[in-house]
Amino acid sequence: MTGQPLPGFRDFYPEEHRALRGIFAAWREASRRSGFAEYEGPELESLDLYTEKSGDEIVGQIYHFRDKGDREVALRPELTPTLARMVAARHRHYRKPIKWFSIPRLFRYERPQRGRQREHFQWNCDMVGEKSAAAEAELIGTLVLGLSLLGLGPSDVVVKVSDRGWWDRFLEGHGVKENQKAEVFKVLDKLEDATEDEWNKKLGSLAGPVRQALGAKDAHSSGLEEVRQGVAALGYAEWFEVDLRVVRGLAYYTGVVFEVHDRAGKFRAVAGGGRYDALLKKFGGEDLPAAGFGMGDAVLAELLAEKKLVPAEVPAPGIFVVAELAQRPLALQLVGSLRRAGQVVDYDPGHGKWAKQLELAEAKGARWALLAGREAAQGKLTVKELATRKQGEIGYEAGPGGAISLVPGVGEWPKVIAS
Ligand code: HAM
Repeated sequence: MTGQPLPGFRDFYPEEHRALRGIFAAWREASRRSGFAEYEGPELESLDLYTEKSGDEIVGQIYHFRDKGDREVALRPELTPTLARMVAARHRHYRKPIKWFSIPRLFRYERPQRGRQREHFQWNCDMVGEKSAAAEAELIGTLVLGLSLLGLGPSDVVVKVSDRGWWDRFLEGHGVKENQKAEVFKVLDKLEDATEDEWNKKLGSLAGPVRQALGAKDAHSSGLEEVRQGVAALGYAEWFEVDLRVVRGLAYYTGVVFEVHDRAGKFRAVAGGGRYDALLKKFGGEDLPAAGFGMGDAVLAELLAEKKLVPAEVPAPGIFVVAELAQRPLALQLVGSLRRAGQVVDYDPGHGKWAKQLELAEAKGARWALLAGREAAQGKLTVKELATRKQGEIGYEAGPGGAISLVPGVGEWPKVIAS
C-alpha cells in the first residue's frame, strides 16, 4: 500500500473538491439557463455499446472485464453511446428537440499526463431532434456561457469549428474510399504536432491537397457559416474561429465538429463535440438528428489555475458555538436550532477548553463565535466577530422541543457589535 491512488486516478481532498464543485456549479448553471434537463446513465455498460459506436481510439482505452454473469462489460469511457441508447428507447415520450445534460465520471486507460487522466468528469450537453445549424449554435453558446461563468473570456479560449461533411466531400473528391475515411480522420486528428516528414508518410499523396486546403482562407461550408451566424447572434462572435484542422477522433460525427482550446495553445482540448446524425438510428431504427459536446474537468482545472480563476466556494461556518462544560446541552440546542433555521454552524465535538474552542473557530474560518459562558444561566450569550474581535451581548429564549430563539436574530448581530 502506497497511500496513493492508482496511476491516472485522483483523490479530491476537500479543498480540491471545492474547486471541482465550483466547476460543476458553473456547468449546471449554464445548462439550467439554456434549458437543458439533467439525466444520468449507468457507469457500467455492455462492452459492445462502444466497440460498435465509438471508434478504435476509445475502444483501445476501455476498462473492460467479464462480470459474474459472464457478460463483457465496460466502465463508460464516454456518455454519448449511453445517451443515444436511452433516447432511442424512449424518444416518443419527449417533445423535440430533446435538450439534456449530464456530468458523468468517465474512464479511459490513457497514459496519464497533464490534463489527461484515467478518469475524469465530463459535462455533456446534447440536443436530439434538431437538424438545423441552430443546434450547434445553441450548444456552442451554452458551453461558452459555462466558461464565462468561470471567469474565462474570448482572449483565454477559442471555439475552433470545422465540418466533417466538408472533409467527407474533400476526401471523396480525392478518391478516398468510405471505409478508409475513419483512418484518415484519425491521422488528421493527430496532425497538430507532426513534422513535414510525418505528414508525407501518414497522408501519402493526400498530404499536398490537405495542406493546400488547410491554407485556403475561403475553405468553408454553408453549414459552418450558419453555425457562425447563430453563435454571433447569441453574442459570442469573438469566441468563434473556423479551423478545418479540427476533425475529432470519434467515429460517429457526421457534420459540423468543434473543439475548445486555450488561446496560447498550451493545453489539450478543453471540450469537443459536433453533429452525429447517424448514431440514434443504429439504436432503434428512428432517424433522429443529434449534436452535442463534452467538456472535461481536468484540462479546464489546469487552465483555471493558470489564469488564477480556481473557483472557491465559501465553506467556512457562519457561526461557531463555543461553550463552557456546564453549557454543553445548551450549546447543542443552539447548534440544532440555528442549523434548522438555515445557518451554517459548527462546534468542537471534543469540547476542549474555552481557548481551544475559540482557536478551532478561527482555524475553521468562522465569521461569528457564539459564546455560552457563565452568564448563559441568566439568559445571555455573547456574539464575537472573529476577524474584528468586536463583541456584544444578546439574549436567548428556550421554546418548546428545545428550539432556541435568539434576540436579536443573526441578521442583527452586526448592529449588536457595532454599538
Ligand atoms: P472527447 O473529445 O473524447 O469527446 O472528450 C471531450 C473532452 O473530455 C476533451 O476535450 C477533454 O477535455 C476531456 N477528456 C477526454 N478524455 C480525457 C482524459 N483521459 N482525461 C481528462 N480529460 C479528458 C467525447 O467524449 C464525446 N462523447 C463528446 C460528445 C458529447 N460529443 C457529442 N456529445
